[in-house]
Amino acid sequence: MNKFTFSYPVKVYFGEGSAKEALKAETFPMGETVMLAYGGGSIKKNGIYEELKSLLLEAGKRIVEFSGIMSNPTYEKVQEGAALAREQQVDFILAVGGGSVIDCCKVISAQAVLDEDIWELEYRKGQFPQKGIPMGAVVTVSGTGAEMNGGAVITYEEKKWKGGIFAETPSFAVLDPVYTASVPPMQVLSGAFDTLSHALETYLGSSDQDNVSDDLALAVMRNTVVNMRRLLLNIHDMQARSNLMWDSAMAENGILKCGRLTDFQVHQIEHQLGAYTDCNHGQGLAVLQPVYCRHILKDAPEKMLRFAKEVFGAETMEGGIVALEQLIRDCGLPAKLSKLQSKEPITPELLRQVADTSNIIKCNPRELSRDEIYEILMECR
Ligand code: NZQ
Ligand code: ZN
Repeated sequence: MNKFTFSYPVKVYFGEGSAKEALKAETFPMGETVMLAYGGGSIKKNGIYEELKSLLLEAGKRIVEFSGIMSNPTYEKVQEGAALAREQQVDFILAVGGGSVIDCCKVISAQAVLDEDIWELEYRKGQFPQKGIPMGAVVTVSGTGAEMNGGAVITYEEKKWKGGIFAETPSFAVLDPVYTASVPPMQVLSGAFDTLSHALETYLGSSDQDNVSDDLALAVMRNTVVNMRRLLLNIHDMQARSNLMWDSAMAENGILKCGRLTDFQVHQIEHQLGAYTDCNHGQGLAVLQPVYCRHILKDAPEKMLRFAKEVFGAETMEGGIVALEQLIRDCGLPAKLSKLQSKEPITPELLRQVADTSNIIKCNPRELSRDEIYEILMECR
């Protein structure tokens, strides 16, 4: 284990009916004006919007709505939200949605109290915001674990860049599996695949053996696969949805990352692919992950074998990847880039640009070259 400091700032309210409980307990210190932030309107169709709005009004809050946060939220949307938060003197931000809404709100929170542009601060000066408007998250689609940390993934369209911005961490998170009941099956499964990828990418980052972080990552992966398979039998299986919701949180609450480096190379490539195509995050990972695993197989043989055995009950490293590919097919997730929804045709030229702009991770299993990233992307076609 490497040296580390661990503290956990997010209070989690998990289970059916937990929004009511959370808002009753958390509204008092929120201040008067609450920004209710959400996406394209799913919460208006499934009743979540009405329920939360009533709870906020009952608690005497003035509500400022901020809606239309898109999947793969843009830097422009962040700036729009920050301007509104400043203008309306928002005291608290309640993010209601999935990774996109929660990430957008994390950065709105920090940007609203900063005198300078947050991208410039982080990427030119190498500094990070020290404060933000306090916020909470109500998760309506799980998989990213975005509610559990202060990192956000934002698309800066002008710069053709999608990447991490460190901003505000929610002080509390509501995880009610019933809130995810209306999520379309494909999104449920691509979210679960995202969770699987988080645990796998965390697991692959260090080469040291016999640490509990690896054991936990394997347990999260195994449990994610078991529950994805349960959903293939019955997509409305609420116990499986509930298990996956906690898997998603466990993969990103920092516990699996204690004492170790993390890989996240597939995520870096997928994020840049997202910058050029606006593809669905979990689906992009489903295409890339097995191809990447084949590329690094010989660089992490013990880890890949253990992954194969403990997550899929396979006998060999290759068998583990075959089982991963089978899971992707069974879930109906895309296995090729040509099956992804993209705003632009996915040409070799576009993939070269993705390869040339992806972040390269310099730890285990191995540092990739830009040409190898391009090769991986071309194999995914
Ligand atoms: O916008 P609405 O209308 O709400 O529809 C959303 C959206 O279309 C819909 N949805 C959400 N809750 C629903 C629902 N539909 C029906 N019923 C409900 N209860 O689901 C769609 C997808 O939502 P989105 O938030 O975009 O998905 P996800 O949670 O997968 O988030 C993806 C974003 O998170 C980033 C990704 O890069 C991407 O931008 N990530 C964030 C991470 C983090 N902060 O830790 C880590 C991840 O690796 C990831 O990069
Ligand atoms: Zn992810």
